Amino acid sequence: MTTTEASNKWSQVLLDKVVFITGGGGGIGSAIARTCFLQGARVVVSDVNKSAADKAVADILTDQNEEQSDRILSLELDTVDEQAIEQAVKQVVDKWGTIHVLANVYV
Ligand SMILES: NC(=O)c1ccc[n+]([C@@H]2O[C@H](COP(=O)([O-])OP(=O)(O)OC[C@H]3O[C@@H](n4cnc5c(N)ncnc54)[C@H](O)[C@@H]3O)[C@@H](O)[C@H]2O)c1
Repeated sequence: MTTTEASNKWSQVLLDKVVFITGGGGGIGSAIARTCFLQGARVVVSDVNKSAADKAVADILTDQNEEQSDRILSLELDTVDEQAIEQAVKQVVDKWGTIHVLANVYV
């Protein structure tokens, strides 16, 4: 494998992966969400503060990628609420089949 081939493969590592982020409305979570979205992942931005999650999603979407808005969603989720976690996981698995990556930013 050439260096270019290896580099191309590495750049595809998040393509179509389902990434679930907690605390996704905050500084670190929204930065992770943006990076994953721009790398082609399907992204769940969850936060106890729904409007913060909504804003993170709105800030990521631009005129250039608006047509890919079905690859990102915001959810209200309190990480200390086990029942809500179960419901959120079910909602995502029902929609996208699985979760590949958990970025548990707000523990
Ligand atoms: N920023 C840093 O340099 C740094 C360094 C070390 C550790 N941390 C820790 O990393 C975490 C994230 O940092 P940040 O800078 O993105 O913080 P931030 O304050 O910007 O974002 C935190 C997000 O978590 C959400 N949140 C709060 N309680 C929650 C809950 N129960 N369930 C779900 N979401 C909840 C908030 O609404 C907010 O959107 C924090 O726990 C912080 O203490 C940050």
